Amino acid sequence: MRNGIALALAATLVLPLAASAGGQDLQELIAECEACHGPDGVSAEDDVPSLADRSPAWLREVLEQFHFYERHCPTTTYRSGDHPKTPTNMCSIANTLSEEDRQALANHFANQ
Ligand code: HEC
Repeated sequence: MRNGIALALAATLVLPLAASAGGQDLQELIAECEACHGPDGVSAEDDVPSLADRSPAWLREVLEQFHFYERHCPTTTYRSGDHPKTPTNMCSIANTLSEEDRQALANHFANQ
């Protein structure tokens, strides 16, 4: 039994995309972004930019700037999903993302 748990733990540690950001997988992260940026990153909100028409390199760069609090990140609120109207900002959101998460999200939204 113990060994089974240790093995399962080891498996999640060697699969960074599956186990990144405290156990969230990429699909959960995408859903989180879409709660503001809209389905497939196409925003219907005046004050939330679309992600779908951007290049992967640009998206990755901007996420890195938010991650390190190097880019202005005004307070905003979730538009849909599990906690609508809850205030947050892009720096807090990007701060929990690993480099692999940021790359994977950039690739995902640029391909929409
Ligand atoms: C709570 C709402 C919210 C969530 C959740 C959210 N964003 Fe944002 N995002 C915004 C807002 C609002 C802006 C515009 C900030 C500004 O005015 O500078 C923004 C800006 C951005 C930008 C810069 C776009 C541009 O044209 O300047 C990128 C890239 C981005 N978000 C990616 C993401 C990704 C990837 C996720 C998921 C991990 C995410 N966002 C989650 C609200 C959100």
